[in-house]
Amino acid sequence: MAEKCVLAYSGGLDTSVAIKWIAETYDVDVIAVAIDVGEEADYEGIRKKGEDVGAIESIVVDAKQEFFDEYITRAIAANLTYERKYVAFTALARPLLAKEQVRVAEEKGARLVAHGCTGKGNDQVRFEVSYAALNPELEVVAPAREWGMTREEEIDYANEHGIPVPVGKKSPYSTDTNLWGRSIECGIIEDPSQEPPEDAWEWTVSPLEAPDTPENVTIAFEQGVPVALNGQTMGGVELVGALNEIGGKHGVGRVNMMENRLVGIKSRELYECPAATIILEAHRDLESLVLDRETMHLKQHLELKWSELVYYGLWFTPLRRSIDAFMAETQKPVSGEVTVKLYKGRAEAVARTSPESLYDYSLATYGDEDIFDQSSARGFIELFGLPAKVASMVRGIED
Ligand code: ARG
Repeated sequence: MAEKCVLAYSGGLDTSVAIKWIAETYDVDVIAVAIDVGEEADYEGIRKKGEDVGAIESIVVDAKQEFFDEYITRAIAANLTYERKYVAFTALARPLLAKEQVRVAEEKGARLVAHGCTGKGNDQVRFEVSYAALNPELEVVAPAREWGMTREEEIDYANEHGIPVPVGKKSPYSTDTNLWGRSIECGIIEDPSQEPPEDAWEWTVSPLEAPDTPENVTIAFEQGVPVALNGQTMGGVELVGALNEIGGKHGVGRVNMMENRLVGIKSRELYECPAATIILEAHRDLESLVLDRETMHLKQHLELKWSELVYYGLWFTPLRRSIDAFMAETQKPVSGEVTVKLYKGRAEAVARTSPESLYDYSLATYGDEDIFDQSSARGFIELFGLPAKVASMVRGIED
């Protein structure tokens, strides 16, 4: 019996060619696994295509719920953001894709796993580090990195092997989509000196075309997890979908940035992430209301590190788990409601309430109800500034 290889399958040209190429090159049976993390695609069509182009078995896994429950909720807790702008949704999904692949490989007794990533990006790292952490026995095949075919050669190969090549005007862009966002690369976007053409964007309207009337959305959180939208309780997958819709209408969540890849290349990236933008805005705002100052300040440092780990593909590592344990503890009081105003590309928290609020009106007010004893500030400042004062007295005044 031939050995088996489990391929992460998207239904696109690269992974379709990969099915045939792996089978021929490695003399194995290929099992295609398409994993649904919220790209609205025709998964039955993809499954069928996997079989048609030569997989001995073609499987679709609906992982949307798991993506929300185990990955997006952690991303929210840690306010996942890479290099100030990227909500890292591609990075966030890769460990889950790898995990599902490894599970199928183990179930089917496959010794090989494969992905369609090139040798220039981050995703190859994320897949392979995850495979190794989850099952070190598996051998990795990376066809797009190994085959050395140009685009034309790949199309010839597809034609020779009866693999359907998309006809008509091909999109000039390469995209990657899941519940938490959509990325747009290639074509004219590779010239960072040019403003991207409007046709690159699909989820969001131009802020110029957005409604002239702002729209407020209210998000309720329970222990850091968004659980309701505008007073209506809903599951996470549904809630994120709804906010992608509403935010997109207002042109919220467009990102246009230069990014440092793990492999050392700088790249120009476009992202659309309306729901992530709105939810993170609301979540950060609620944290400001309910977290004590020092926890919040340390958390900001750890968010940076956590985001870097996730971007680097180090999900299945002790450090990611340890930081997550800290994040989980911080989320215990993060319950309440935040209203976010959506207006012409902007999403801004404008009101918030929480039973866990640490805001004390009688301490903060400058009005009649003030109970804050201002005289105690004097001693506080004296001791707080003492080290600075001593240093100046000993060494002279330096500025
Ligand atoms: N640069 C982003 C990342 O590395 C997005 C990549 C999307 N492209 C892709 N081929 N998956 O996370």
